[in-house]
Amino acid sequence: MYMNDSLEITPSTQGTDGTTEKNIVIALDTANEVIALGLGVLHPDAKSITVLESISVPAHRASNTRLIPELDALMKRQGISHASLASVCCGRGPGSFTGVRICMATAKGIASACEVPLCGVSTLDALAWEVWQDGVRGSLWVLADAMRKEIYPVLYLLDDAGAHRQSADCVMKADVTPAYVFELTPQDVPVYLTGDALHKYSELFDDSYTFLDGRFWTPVGAGLLHCLEDAWQQGVMDPFDRERHNPALALPVYTRLSDAEENERIRLAKNSPKNLHTGVSEEGLRADQRACAHDSVIANAQADATGILYRPLDAEHAADVAHLESLLMGSDAWSESLVLDDLFRSDRVWWAAYETRPDGAGQPRPARLMGYAGAWIVAGDMQILKVAVIPEARRQGVARTLLGHVAQDARDLGAHTASLEVRVSNEGARASYEKLGFSCIGTRPGYYSDGEDAAIYQGPLPLLSHDVAGITLRCQETSEERQGDSSEPSHPLILAIESSCDETAAAIVDGSGSLLSDVVASQIDFHARFGGVVPEIASRKHIEAICGVCDECLDVAARQLGRAALSWKDLDAIAVTQAPGLVGALVVGVAFAKGAAWGAEIPLVGVNHLEGHLYANKIATPDIQPPMVVSLVSGGHTMLVHARAWGDYVTLGSTIDDAVGEAFDKVAKALGLGYPGGPIISRLAAQGDPRAIRFPRAMMHSHDLRFSLSGLKTAVMTYIQKEQAQGHELNLPDIAASFQQAVIDVQVAKAKTALIETQAREFCLGGGVAANPALRAAYADMCADLGVRLTLPPMSACTDNAGMIALVAFDRLQQGQVLSWDADAHAHAPLDELR
Ligand code: KG4
Ligand code: ZN
Repeated sequence: MYMNDSLEITPSTQGTDGTTEKNIVIALDTANEVIALGLGVLHPDAKSITVLESISVPAHRASNTRLIPELDALMKRQGISHASLASVCCGRGPGSFTGVRICMATAKGIASACEVPLCGVSTLDALAWEVWQDGVRGSLWVLADAMRKEIYPVLYLLDDAGAHRQSADCVMKADVTPAYVFELTPQDVPVYLTGDALHKYSELFDDSYTFLDGRFWTPVGAGLLHCLEDAWQQGVMDPFDRERHNPALALPVYTRLSDAEENERIRLAKNSPKNLHTGVSEEGLRADQRACAHDSVIANAQADATGILYRPLDAEHAADVAHLESLLMGSDAWSESLVLDDLFRSDRVWWAAYETRPDGAGQPRPARLMGYAGAWIVAGDMQILKVAVIPEARRQGVARTLLGHVAQDARDLGAHTASLEVRVSNEGARASYEKLGFSCIGTRPGYYSDGEDAAIYQGPLPLLSHDVAGITLRCQETSEERQGDSSEPSHPLILAIESSCDETAAAIVDGSGSLLSDVVASQIDFHARFGGVVPEIASRKHIEAICGVCDECLDVAARQLGRAALSWKDLDAIAVTQAPGLVGALVVGVAFAKGAAWGAEIPLVGVNHLEGHLYANKIATPDIQPPMVVSLVSGGHTMLVHARAWGDYVTLGSTIDDAVGEAFDKVAKALGLGYPGGPIISRLAAQGDPRAIRFPRAMMHSHDLRFSLSGLKTAVMTYIQKEQAQGHELNLPDIAASFQQAVIDVQVAKAKTALIETQAREFCLGGGVAANPALRAAYADMCADLGVRLTLPPMSACTDNAGMIALVAFDRLQQGQVLSWDADAHAHAPLDELR
């Protein structure tokens, strides 16, 4: 029934009543160096799919630019309209991380905008089905290139009934793969090899294997569609069921953690005192950090000392775990050496929860161990080894949160189900697992050392209980009450997406230029342990959060309008931050926005992130008008810009080394104070003496508008080392205040020069550091002296958000500046070249 290039079957886009029938599925995959695309007709009665066209186009590092143009051309070739789209099917990998994310983000965008299900299938299964379709029978190894001298190997049995997977997704070094393949391969059947790893590693496999033709090494669309058809017939998927296949739920297959997390695991498993200083991911700090970054209470905010801190278990606490084991687990308690031995293994995941106590700087530090959870990832299943919480901390969701963290890592290691054993007599635990969606699948007689039976439970991976992707969403109150009670918005309505760094954000602006909604998911908690933003983690979180953030953004806008709902179909354009930023993070937003704009058949607007920070001033001060001088100060940028008109900018000077925010972050790190440093330093500085230590004011008299901050950072670090060497206790507030003052003096002096040179009568700020209260106060004094009007962005609009992106897009759309489908994300983009 599979017919490539078939002319016999024409898509039935016209229903009998003249309306367009929704029965078309598109399939896409960019996990490898090709773009695989398929178009099929869904037959609900037979649960079968007819392939209309299936292609594979070589696209070395070009999936983002070429995916939509190829798909668009395919649809036109086949005469298929968007209205007949019923479902989207996308390859989940494993493959290149970025490649998988481009495909998945695009597919999520299309499925969201077209309001159809998104079915994720395995890229490797799709390959196996292609080989099966060609008539091959026997054992098949799909060996996909995992880069960095590694392979993703999966074994299949191909018989007349279909392609049957025999092993779970995993990744391993290329040189040990032949031994793994040999060990698992059944005897006495023909054994075939395929997959793009053969380009590099075919010589590792001897001639007892049959190598398939190169055209089977990467997927084509038909393989994806066949995979979906099989899952449909097995009852595992239903391409018409949007609830089951909500686009938010589709996630890539990674089989490994990010490098930063892997290295952290290795460090934590070693019994070294440094373990305790690897940073934190704490529940209790969240509210506080938000307050610092986004509210006007910075100076007064105190760390929440009662918070619970969650982080991967380290060797330092193995003895504490063993102690709790002996109290809670009776004869089945693990000893310290057993725990330590387990921590070392790469297929185990352990998380711990601690009660916190504030340190000298008011930062919560781990005090008492309150609970822990550990799991073993075996063949795609997360087998829960331990979950324990001290009696005083029960019924607060600690166990659940611990399991959520463990499951999040387990999923990245290739797990898709969870299982555990529990004493048959433990009614409470059994009930709580049933609440998590687990069901009892049998018993293990005499499993426990006292002879009691174990009930075996299996279920889905438990999720962290937050709004999206383990993140609590922040929804900005929109600035004005809406006039009148009309639920009809003024057009054009633009939904803007921001994903350049560690916030996933979406906002909607209406035809009058006011924001209807502004939603941010900040990933700070997932990066804080590492003392800075980890690009790979940021990209992963964007893909997890983007649908939920956009859905919430539409819901908030609907509420604001007093309507029951607002859908993608009501929008007139999609906007997205295109540059500058972390390219792997930008790519997720750009691919998603492109998919959504293409799906909704509306224009796509690209926005420069820095121009967004400038426009953030409009949120609270809509009448702000160039010409003006702008200071952009964030974690990645430090510059003075002359805005001659909206869209017309001249950079007057920028930093020659570190950015201001970066300096705050590095100084905070040197003082052992956590991340991000800006809010922590500014809070400490409020209690210190800015004249206590004389730090250098770099380039103060350089007679230009450039900045340098690495010297100041080094001076602070040298000072800290010297004080410590002399046995002095560090005066944290004085160090923070003196460092901050050195920054402010230079920033203000150069801004003043810029204002005098350009004769501008307006001055404004943008970027995360613009939230610094002392800097804001210093600018107020300087501007008052010069008689210049000062505009300060609201605290909530200083850090990254999509409201500011939407406001830029509002202007750009009016000027007709829209992107074509081959647009890409860029790490760098100077403001001066916008026109
Ligand atoms: O604009 P943003 O959210 O992200 C980038 O595009 O970099 O800025 C984040 C930066 C971080 O370096 C953070 O430490 C800094 O802004 N920051 C602050 C303050 N709040 C955030 N720096 C100084 N004082 C603050 N209150
Ligand atoms: Zn920014």
